[in-house]
Amino acid sequence: MKSLSRTLCAALFFILIPLIAGAQPPVRFLESKKVFVLAGGGVSYVFGINEQGMLQHIHWGKQVWRDDDFNAPHSSPDWDVFDLTTTTTPQEYPGWGAGLYVEPSLKATFADGNRDLVLHYASHKIDGNALTVTLKDIERALFVHLHYTIWPETGILRRYATIENRTNAPVVLESAQSGAWYLPQGEGYRLRYLAGRWGGEFQLNEEPVHTGLKVLESRRGSTGHSMNPWFALDRDGNADDEHGSVWFGELGWSGSWRISVEQTPHQQVRVTGGYNSFDFGYSLSPGETLVTPPFYAGYSDEGIGGASRILHRFQRSEILPNGSGAKTRPVLYNSWEATFFDVNEPGQIALAEKAASLGVERFVIDDGWFGRRDDDHDGLGDWNVNPKKFPNGLGPLIRRVKELGMDFGVWVEPEMVNPKSDLYQKHPDWAMHFEGRPRTESRNQLILNLARDDVREYVFHWLDDLVTKNDIAFLKWDYNRNVTEPGWPEVPPARQKNLWVLFTKNVYDIMDRLRQKHPGLEIESCSGGGGRVDMGILPRVQQIWTSDNTEALDRLTIQQGFTYAYTPHVMMDWVTDVPGFNGRSVPLRFRFLTAMQGSLGIGTNLNRWSAEDFVLGKQMLAYYKSIRETVQNGLLYRLASPMKGSFTANQYVSPDKMQSVLFAFLHSQQFRRTLPPLLLHGLDEKAVYSVTQVDGKLDTKAPATPMKFSGAYLMNHGIELDLVGDYDGVSLKLERISEQ
Ligand code: GLA
Repeated sequence: MKSLSRTLCAALFFILIPLIAGAQPPVRFLESKKVFVLAGGGVSYVFGINEQGMLQHIHWGKQVWRDDDFNAPHSSPDWDVFDLTTTTTPQEYPGWGAGLYVEPSLKATFADGNRDLVLHYASHKIDGNALTVTLKDIERALFVHLHYTIWPETGILRRYATIENRTNAPVVLESAQSGAWYLPQGEGYRLRYLAGRWGGEFQLNEEPVHTGLKVLESRRGSTGHSMNPWFALDRDGNADDEHGSVWFGELGWSGSWRISVEQTPHQQVRVTGGYNSFDFGYSLSPGETLVTPPFYAGYSDEGIGGASRILHRFQRSEILPNGSGAKTRPVLYNSWEATFFDVNEPGQIALAEKAASLGVERFVIDDGWFGRRDDDHDGLGDWNVNPKKFPNGLGPLIRRVKELGMDFGVWVEPEMVNPKSDLYQKHPDWAMHFEGRPRTESRNQLILNLARDDVREYVFHWLDDLVTKNDIAFLKWDYNRNVTEPGWPEVPPARQKNLWVLFTKNVYDIMDRLRQKHPGLEIESCSGGGGRVDMGILPRVQQIWTSDNTEALDRLTIQQGFTYAYTPHVMMDWVTDVPGFNGRSVPLRFRFLTAMQGSLGIGTNLNRWSAEDFVLGKQMLAYYKSIRETVQNGLLYRLASPMKGSFTANQYVSPDKMQSVLFAFLHSQQFRRTLPPLLLHGLDEKAVYSVTQVDGKLDTKAPATPMKFSGAYLMNHGIELDLVGDYDGVSLKLERISEQ
């Protein structure tokens, strides 16, 4: 019933409303020219079927309102005897065959050893804002269904492919990509991508695109800390945060992934992405299909700032669980850095009471509550409550937490096993391994082979049991190592490499079934911090543990990088104790202001807090609650980058422009230099805003109380900030009070 009414609503939205309004539907096929047009959100994406039957790209960028402008595509001629038409024609989904020398979207070996694959148009189907184009090999029954969707509000496109083996023998796929994106032909592009490592994720890298191939990837079996599956390209070398054309995209896959950015000698810039083709070899039996990861992409003419605002909006409305109905993130307390593995009932209750007095809304017990988990050598796999630490189970702690007005969450690491655990002793074959070879441990643990159905079922059932028997609102789902020895000796050699895909699909399956059975359950994706953040995990989790590095100064950079690709709504940050990651002692106020720029958490040892710390903490939590809607769901403007100097500023504006919040940080002052007025963005020029400061006082140079400024003044003249010394910070709340 629900799905029927949804279908009717979709039909109304995509077919009837455009018809009534005289507007065109978002996806159309120009029959006479054999051209497909996908348009919306100020973006057009156009391709067609050329005279050879290839699917040929035509346009991706700012919207072109006149369909008649687009002509039937003609394959590019052989450039010379070395660069043939297969290579020079911008094919939407080229198979590796004939004369293809650029990155293929699909590479296959047939059972008879034939490795030639030439994909031509077979049929298509339009359904509202979605289009499926089916390609087929020119001779064999290998089909590829290309799925395109455009979201008319944001112009975001999603592409993925279903590869179907209708031959009567197995086919091995050696590369299976979601598709190739083409940028307007030319040179001078700049690539931005996010790279890093554990404790230093999401560092923004920028470099010019030259002829050749740049690979962004993970071969680790998971998304990884070292690169994130996001890219942005622009052509205006000096384009700043808010101006110029930017093409961007991100993959929805939490296993090994690959995005290649290629500039051909013919100045074609193309981006191909999907499963990592390294050690890939997916065996597809007759009748089987393989679905590639979704590859999302978009275009903005408001610079990289506009690109991330489009992504944030899209993630909040279309990707996160419950979409635009997603709940505001509660303020949580997590006991990890306070107690590490040394958890027990009275200790956790004492922390919960202190957390509740601050206004915390969710209490989370981290690692150490199960099995023989006194350190990281044992326990993973044995998910029964430790009887010494919690003699009466988790019940009494949960009851107290709820009495205190908070809900309760626990840490789990479902894919892992310690060799010392009872589970491993019983089922050593359940861990990934190659027969007779050493099993590399990392953090003293191995990875369960979730590609196996029996292992998947075991994991689902203990998680289901845990959530059913305890009043648990939240799981912090961790994953603390990368894949080594990805062996699966129990299946025939030809199917062993399917593990790369099936492992991750089964993780998704467990999460999906768990969430379906426990609709209120929320999940945080964590992998030693930000090692599993991507558009494949986002539809399944409400928040992300951004980094294990919680030191405020480092966090400014990590968080800024994160927001290029992901909404602050999911960006979890804790206020923790000092000295931090680099041995630096940053004041509590600065730590709070840093952590408030996404979803706020507290991870300090509250037993060590002074009375003044509690006063400050309460004030900060009350302030955060008054601005969090804007921070979590508003429009983000990155005003000053921590990577470009000693000052960071970020501004959030509510979609209706009624509230705006500014966070500004002076890392370190030199030569008593004062800050120039800071120009704000995104306000209503004509409105007047009242300005108050985080702790009620006014920190700025202007004396009037409360201060009032027009949007025009704040955006064109700027606001003066009186920040001095080291680690000074401020947050200003702007509230619209009138039109004049
Ligand atoms: C990982 C997480 C931490 C903490 C520990 C527990 O490192 O990122 O936040 O949960 O595991 O072992």
